Amino acid sequence: MQILVTGSRGQLGMELQSLAEHYPDYRFLFTDRTSLDVTDGEAVRKFFKKQRIDCLINCAGHTGVDQAEADVENAHLVNAKAAGYLAEAAGKAGALMIHLSTDYVFDGKGCRPYTEGDSANPRSVYGKSKLDGELEVLFNAKRSVIFRTSWLYSSYGTNFLKSILKQASEKNELKVVFDQVGTPTYARDLARTILDLLPAFPPRIRGEIYNYSNEGVASWYDFARAILEMKGLSCKVVPVVTAEMPAVAARPHYSVLDKRRIKKDFGIRVPYWRDSLAECLSAV
Ligand SMILES: NC(=O)c1ccc[n+]([C@@H]2O[C@H](COP(=O)([O-])OP(=O)(O)OC[C@H]3O[C@@H](n4cnc5c(N)ncnc54)[C@H](OP(=O)(O)O)[C@@H]3O)[C@@H](O)[C@H]2O)c1
Repeated sequence: MQILVTGSRGQLGMELQSLAEHYPDYRFLFTDRTSLDVTDGEAVRKFFKKQRIDCLINCAGHTGVDQAEADVENAHLVNAKAAGYLAEAAGKAGALMIHLSTDYVFDGKGCRPYTEGDSANPRSVYGKSKLDGELEVLFNAKRSVIFRTSWLYSSYGTNFLKSILKQASEKNELKVVFDQVGTPTYARDLARTILDLLPAFPPRIRGEIYNYSNEGVASWYDFARAILEMKGLSCKVVPVVTAEMPAVAARPHYSVLDKRRIKKDFGIRVPYWRDSLAECLSAV
């Protein structure tokens, strides 16, 4: 199977690259913004014409949640319009499209884990652009699976884990919100799950949404505490509410994803977030 990975220098893309050697049956074409700018519709069409692509994993994204508020057009271009270009090209080539979406499509007013069937109502430009991207994929790709994930971190790229470690090396005390609750997800677990499931998807699969995060629940405060404790760092973490630390973009207060569907359909085991955090920290 020939697999095109777009945006492959981001967290998820880098995890896929580092796992590639364990999947000898797959041949990977890893591209980044320079080798394939997904917002260039013509370049996307040409790329698919030039070589056979059986599967596309779209890891490209405008993931700056706060930045997106001031960069609406670009967020929409990368997260929605480009997803449409890729979906259309994949559809024409008969390729399966794996697309990534987010817990931020929900408004977070719920108090039980969100299922794939729950109504989306994004509170941010980023969330709205990702929801529009889902629709582009559902509409244009002939074979597609959308993974909704949350709070991705990795030893690669920029993320909350790296930011906490950096701040802890500079300060004695950090303020972190405890009224936003979700589930941290090790990008390596998500990458492995995607690669493991590729042969299990039915050939005519179209527009299926699956939630995938690590197991368990945490606030950003809990996540920060766990990072510092596991690293043996003594920096103090002060729990604050979102109103005390206003960010540019509104975020859901509750965005835990219900993973019963993916576990039931494919019998997968999902690692607990603290276990995956420990694994990741051994690589940081
Ligand atoms: N990070 C999270 O917490 C989170 C949570 C839920 C869902 N997701 C979703 O999961 C997916 C992967 O996230 P991630 O954390 O791995 O993202 P990431 O680390 O920000 O990586 C995104 C990659 O996309 C690339 N990119 C941006 N514009 C592009 C373009 N026009 N053409 C080609 N590549 C482009 C970026 O390149 P540059 O570095 O050059 O900009 C970057 O390498 C995204 O769809 C994201 O929305 C992420």
